[in-house]
Amino acid sequence: MSIPDASSPLSPVSELSLEDNEHENANLSLLFDRYKDKFTRFPNEKGWMGQNLYMYQGFWYSSENAFSIETMMALQDTFQAHSTDIYLATQPKSGTTWIKALVFAIVNRNRYKNDSSTNPLLITNPHKCVPFLEIEIVGKTPTYVHANTPRLFSTHIPYTALPQSILGSGCRLVYMCRNPKDVLVSWFHFSNKLNDKYHVQMTIDELFEVYSKGLMPYGPYWDHVKEYHKVSSEHPTRILFLTYEDMRKDTANKVKRLAEFLGYPFTEEEEAKGKVEEIVKLCSFENLKEVNKHGDFRKGVPNNSFFREGKVGGWNNDLTTEMSQILDDITKAKFHGLDISF
Ligand code: A3P
Repeated sequence: MSIPDASSPLSPVSELSLEDNEHENANLSLLFDRYKDKFTRFPNEKGWMGQNLYMYQGFWYSSENAFSIETMMALQDTFQAHSTDIYLATQPKSGTTWIKALVFAIVNRNRYKNDSSTNPLLITNPHKCVPFLEIEIVGKTPTYVHANTPRLFSTHIPYTALPQSILGSGCRLVYMCRNPKDVLVSWFHFSNKLNDKYHVQMTIDELFEVYSKGLMPYGPYWDHVKEYHKVSSEHPTRILFLTYEDMRKDTANKVKRLAEFLGYPFTEEEEAKGKVEEIVKLCSFENLKEVNKHGDFRKGVPNNSFFREGKVGGWNNDLTTEMSQILDDITKAKFHGLDISF
């Protein structure tokens, strides 16, 4: 694959054309009405932050915001994948923001210089560089104006519920997971920073209760991880399975592995010039946290809510020994026989 060069310094936003198309919006609204008739008959229970969650094909979905069951169904019915697309899939709070930054930086490394007048990662939230299928893309016809650029998208949708066109397109997908105890604690702090009408605050005990039952958007956590792990073992050239913990332990080598997998390997010359380390630093927690001190990702979701501690094992401060033991037991049983460790 060719690497876009710096002669076409387009911002990520102008590369992706997402005009607000009245016709598309009207169609989406009609589709959503149809889905409502359907999903309101699915099993439902109260879960994360008091939301009514609906069960579909073994997973729980929210019905109340951008990451809703309707958006997943609309994507299934309308989204058109390209074989050159790259998808980043995660459970929320597993390092989505970080993997978006890394993949964007790897693929665009010759296009943007490392200065804040040109490099989007020094100006804006990585979520603006790699759009979520469930937020920016649903119901839209995304077209990139730069022919050489692969389209980069992210999603929290479970593997089996991905639009058929993604499954059949032969495109590459990167999945990143994280220790469920750190995911839970990260959810807890993130949720309490949200400032919108879709959530009621929960204590850590209340959140633990619903999380351990899998009653989270795109939950159960364990089933989500297991599905992607299985297809990655079966199709390792199409799906790369990473853990947040491994990425933290050996970021430079994992970045090289990621670049190879994506079809953008570093040359010897780039390695000798320190290009890998440059990307690691550009996408570091410290750097991204500083860039995203102010502003909102979208209404009620501050940019800084995506950058809290960025630690491995930080769950220790918020979970009791008993909670930890229960989650360990579930993880052991669910991941039995699988090569997944944190
Ligand atoms: P903590 O809450 O444990 O600090 P997501 O991006 O999927 O919402 O996940 C958010 C978690 O990733 C947060 O974890 C956040 O601090 C961490 N994170 C964000 N950017 C990171 C980076 N560049 N490096 C490592 N961790 C990062």
